[in-house]
Amino acid sequence: MVVFEMKHFTFLSKNLFTFFFLSLLVSGCSNQEKIEQPVAYNHEIHVSEAGLDCIDCHTGVEKKMHASLPSIKLCKSCHTQMQGESSAEALVVEAVNNNVEIHWKPIYKLEDHVFFSHRRHVKSGKIACATCHGEVEKLLKPPTHQLVPISMENCMKCHDNKSISNDCLTCHV
Ligand code: HEC
Ligand code: HEC
Ligand code: HEC
Ligand code: HEC
Ligand code: HEC
Repeated sequence: MVVFEMKHFTFLSKNLFTFFFLSLLVSGCSNQEKIEQPVAYNHEIHVSEAGLDCIDCHTGVEKKMHASLPSIKLCKSCHTQMQGESSAEALVVEAVNNNVEIHWKPIYKLEDHVFFSHRRHVKSGKIACATCHGEVEKLLKPPTHQLVPISMENCMKCHDNKSISNDCLTCHV
């Protein structure tokens, strides 16, 4: 009897342990909520098939702090009429012809207390987009989370490797 209770107890506590462990794992992976974009945009088609460059749509990357998400004006040259048959493209054609913006939701976003400049990293630092954003050119649909997580640790690791200052005031304003 005593043995049975002991076994029972171990069984329960093991399950509880597993439960808490899994909850920790899950909350660790999804501390960012999944983001859904208003249109099922496809990076692969535009980079491989239409031959566009990242900077054609993210016009700030070499000149400004923010890379920026594209205005509907940038879709106009190709999407006043349907080129394919997807319902996603139909939404874009409609937006272009009515001159209505599509409200893309940023996934990579820092709080105001952190300073980060694309120009500095892309232009002067010559760091590839993929280092911080993953293989975006292969995406068939919008990412729902950060493929490479932004974290203070990741920023500092690279700064250490490249002997860039890691003083608190380098990044915090
Ligand atoms: C024809 C325009 C276009 C081109 C070219 C393009 N993008 Fe995008 N990009 C978008 C749009 C629209 C979104 C928002 C929808 C999405 O996330 O798929 C986006 C989103 C992103 C995001 C997520 C940003 C965020 O915070 O939500 C990254 C990172 C990105 N693009 C990087 C790139 C890179 C790297 C390239 C070149 C390999 C590239 N893009 C080429 C239009 C473009
Ligand atoms: C240089 C021309 C060009 C520009 C500029 C362009 N596209 Fe496209 N887009 C294409 C081509 C080509 C296709 C493929 C059509 C097909 O065969 O289905 C496409 C397809 C699409 C599709 C359908 C994707 C799928 O998987 O079926 C969406 C959505 C789309 N584009 C959104 C955009 C948005 C949003 C912009 C502006 C930020 C934009 N495009 C700018 C050329 C372009
Ligand atoms: C050293 C890391 C790093 C590199 C390299 C980098 N990015 Fe980013 N990117 C970030 C960070 C951090 C943010 C969030 C910025 C913020 O909120 O101020 C971001 C945000 C973005 C966004 C969301 C919109 C915006 O303007 O904030 C897009 C789009 C984007 N990056 C595209 C690109 C493209 C395209 C390249 C390459 C030409 C690139 N990034 C290179 C770190 C990087
Ligand atoms: C993959 C490497 C890499 C990553 C990741 C990276 N940086 Fe940098 N950072 C650099 C390099 C290289 C420079 C110097 C660029 C130059 O030549 O001007 C730099 C410069 C800077 C500067 C200017 C420093 C100065 O002394 O003026 C700031 C601010 C900065 N980074 C913030 C950030 C933040 C915030 C992040 C994370 C969101 C980040 N960096 C991630 C490589 C990186
Ligand atoms: C290379 C850039 C960089 C440096 C240097 C840096 N930080 Fe950060 N820090 C960041 C980024 C990026 C974030 C935001 C991380 C996120 O959004 O998950 C952050 C977030 C924080 C936060 C908020 C915590 C949170 O979870 O949001 C505090 C507090 C902080 N940093 C303190 C410091 C202190 C103290 C130093 C100096 C010892 C320092 N940082 C140096 C980039 C940096």
